[in-house]
Amino acid sequence: MSAATRPPIVLTGVKPTGNPHIGNLLGAIRPALELAEAPGSRSLFFIADYHALTGTHDRALLQSMTLEVAATWLAFGLDPSRTVFYRQSDVPEIFELAWVLSCFCPKGWMNKAHAYKAQVADNLDKGVEDTDAGIGMGLYTYPLLMAADILLFDTDLVPVGRDQVQHVEIARDIAQRINSTYGGEVLRLPSALVRDNTAVVPGIDGRKMSKSYGNTLPLFGSSKKLKKTIGRIVTDSTPPEAPKDPDSSAVFQIYKAIARPDQVAALQARYAAGISWGEAKMELFAVMEAIVGGPRERYEALMADPARIEAQLQEGATRARALARPVLSRVRDAIGINR
Ligand code: TRP
Repeated sequence: MSAATRPPIVLTGVKPTGNPHIGNLLGAIRPALELAEAPGSRSLFFIADYHALTGTHDRALLQSMTLEVAATWLAFGLDPSRTVFYRQSDVPEIFELAWVLSCFCPKGWMNKAHAYKAQVADNLDKGVEDTDAGIGMGLYTYPLLMAADILLFDTDLVPVGRDQVQHVEIARDIAQRINSTYGGEVLRLPSALVRDNTAVVPGIDGRKMSKSYGNTLPLFGSSKKLKKTIGRIVTDSTPPEAPKDPDSSAVFQIYKAIARPDQVAALQARYAAGISWGEAKMELFAVMEAIVGGPRERYEALMADPARIEAQLQEGATRARALARPVLSRVRDAIGINR
């Protein structure tokens, strides 16, 4: 099939982090799974463990976070027979391509990358004289490795959050440079597919749900613990039978982000009629359980059998490498390295 008529290749990666929460499910996991399972697309999904090395040098943490991310995605239904599911560090071709790309990437493009700029701004704020203090080359060239992740698989579409669009554009610009240097389509030009309309889920204190605020509803952990965390969601002191304003209630806003529209409408009516906070929280607990109950069981079964996760990742890596090799070979031919 020619490249013009084949189904689009959709690729995305996720950096391992610990303790996934409901905000991650709605903002990243669900939308990516929907795209991956869409009929007519070919999808690749990987864990960017070498990207995580820019931020943590704790080997046990890196290992456990990688495993947890893999188990989370599998537990929420990623189908490894449909989506090529692998770990970045198992595909050495990525790192070879990253070097080639670096030779076509003006240094100034990295100076403008926002992760690096944010660190420089932080140093300036703190009055640190050397504005590059504490910044490793891994963080500085982060977008180059990400470009290799993308370009190595002839990717058409990269579903990402808005903060990652710049990185996809850098990948595209580097590919364009290579193509115009050697003539023809050596590398496929990718486009970002921005997730924009995903709900912002408030945390249990009413601010945006974020690990750094410590206000999350975790996806995993016992149902008893979940009930307790929901019990801690801040509410006002309106008496139980009084009508309540759903828009100013974190309990309702979280419910709204995760429940079906008919459930949301029904609960909204109960708020207007008067519902106790205790009952409102029980309703939230019930929808949460319906969403995470099944995945929680699968997650625990997977985490109890890491060898099974590993076998799946290895199989994914074999498939990924088979897709990567011809692309890398095309690049090597173009630049004059193949003999
Ligand atoms: N940088 C992305 C993030 O932090 C993760 C990532 C690494 C990625 N390589 C990628 C995403 C390639 C899409 C494609 O979320």
